[in-house]
Amino acid sequence: MIYGGKKLEGVVSVEASKNAFLPIMAGVVLCDGQVQLSDYVDLSDLDCMRQILQTLGAKSQLSGKKLLLDTTGLENKSITHTLAQKVRASIIFLGAMLGRFKKAVIAYPGGCKIGSRPIDIHLNGFKALGVRVVEKHGYIYCHGENMRCGEVVFPFPSVGATESLMLCACLLDGVTTLKNVAKEPEVVDLQNFLNKMGAKVRGAGTDCIEIEGVKSLHGGEFAVMSDRIVAGTYLLAVATCGGDVMIENAIYRHNESLISFLRQSACQIDVFDDKIRVKADRRLSSIEKIQTLPYPHFPTDLQPQMMTLQSVCSGVCIIQENLFENRFGHVMELRKMGANIVVKDRSACVVGVEQLYGADVFATDLRAGAALVIAGLKAEGYTTVHNVEYIDRGYERIEEKYKLLGAEIKRIED
Ligand code: UD1
Repeated sequence: MIYGGKKLEGVVSVEASKNAFLPIMAGVVLCDGQVQLSDYVDLSDLDCMRQILQTLGAKSQLSGKKLLLDTTGLENKSITHTLAQKVRASIIFLGAMLGRFKKAVIAYPGGCKIGSRPIDIHLNGFKALGVRVVEKHGYIYCHGENMRCGEVVFPFPSVGATESLMLCACLLDGVTTLKNVAKEPEVVDLQNFLNKMGAKVRGAGTDCIEIEGVKSLHGGEFAVMSDRIVAGTYLLAVATCGGDVMIENAIYRHNESLISFLRQSACQIDVFDDKIRVKADRRLSSIEKIQTLPYPHFPTDLQPQMMTLQSVCSGVCIIQENLFENRFGHVMELRKMGANIVVKDRSACVVGVEQLYGADVFATDLRAGAALVIAGLKAEGYTTVHNVEYIDRGYERIEEKYKLLGAEIKRIED
């Protein structure tokens, strides 16, 4: 429950990246010995990944913010529907399990309902390396006895498929080349993690990755990168509500497309090595057109929060969602709060209004939830955001962070 209308002031620190943690946790399957990941974040999606690892026979221990994982005793079990449907990233285990056991079985993955989210690019990638894939009764069976290194050309730079294939190829004899891959910073972080554990991966951050197979990976320590989507969410919250906030543990170059839009709208942003200061002291002007595209362009994971900002800017903004066909769940809720938004196909036309008003609204997915919280922080009066379990998938106790910045916000039982 939020009582809106306050400016945000102070310092907030960004946690480690959920989307980097997820594939790295799957990557631990390939390591012999103990892996220590620092700055663990208390998120339900990461908890699910731990549960999957434990079910497969790994040891998992949380010591303060340090997550210790040991997959020495891992068994080649199936990942059942109950676990796989809880988190989309469960699919990345397929690549890791194939890499380790040359065989893997998993139920179709779940995750936020933001589109059909097929997995054909993952499976065709495995097939290109000689894996026999059988889909039946809701499960995917991958037989990799004849798996060999090779070349995989992706039809689209899918983040998850890039990560799956990187994991799958680490222990293969010879060099595997992945072309037209995702360039997201989380892919670079996965490469850094794998190399720290003894892999030979190069090229992440460009559109071609080469993986030179090694015999085994060892254990070790790794610090996961900071969450660029969380940092972007705070940037957008301050731009929407006004105020002056220093965002610590935030990497400017991971959010260049967003920062360039905010600067165009007359928001003041100062960047430092690992922090960003954002100041907004007046109503911002709308951006004419924003479209979501793979990194380094504007991310789909900030589209809903950006739409909240555009709802209260002066002018008109067209937002085109190119990644997921069902990612406008927040539109109806923002309208309840007084926003003027019309959707046609994959585009939303947002006509800025002077003010939003408090209402009962319902999160339909993780980032939609984050967008509604920002709307509540801006709105006049009380807003109740329902379904906060979506928000808990990707933001660590978000209400406490905003409270530190002066917001009136509290978690209540639904
Ligand atoms: C990752 C992020 C998610 C983000 C998304 C796009 C994680 C854990 N999640 O999701 O937060 O919103 O990138 O930046 O890192 N596609 C196919 N076939 C496939 C795979 C994907 O058609 O086999 C399509 C998807 O439907 C979508 C597009 O490719 O339209 C991008 O998906 P992808 O990059 O794979 O997203 P995820 O890895 O699921």
